[in-house]
Amino acid sequence: MPVLQEAQRIFGYLPLEVQKFIADETGTPIAEIYGVATFYSQFNTTIKGKHKVGVCLGTACYVRGAQAVLEKVCEELGIGLGETTADGLFSIEDTRCLGCCSLAPVMVIDDTVYGKLDDISRIPEILD
Ligand code: FES
Repeated sequence: MPVLQEAQRIFGYLPLEVQKFIADETGTPIAEIYGVATFYSQFNTTIKGKHKVGVCLGTACYVRGAQAVLEKVCEELGIGLGETTADGLFSIEDTRCLGCCSLAPVMVIDDTVYGKLDDISRIPEILD
């Protein structure tokens, strides 16, 4: 875990080449490295954008329109869930409950939470 964490700190994510290097240098089977890298949400095996847009798909947000929020964010950025824009600026992730259900539906951009997004027309301005 500490080796993977340090590698991710250096490279920003854990591409397969890095996982293979770690496997070779530590004598650990690549399957085990890959298993850890893909099991824990703290690790990314694909490059992430400079800004991470997380749309909460927790229960409260979901019943109050999170799917429409997610679709609008994807439409505005021209990418799908789990993808990164070609310019490397944004990536879209789903999140579990962010602990602010009274503001549902909610999304978070980096460390800033945006709530009451049932009016999805606000999303382009927020992303701008
Ligand atoms: S379910 Fe989205 S903030 Fe709690």
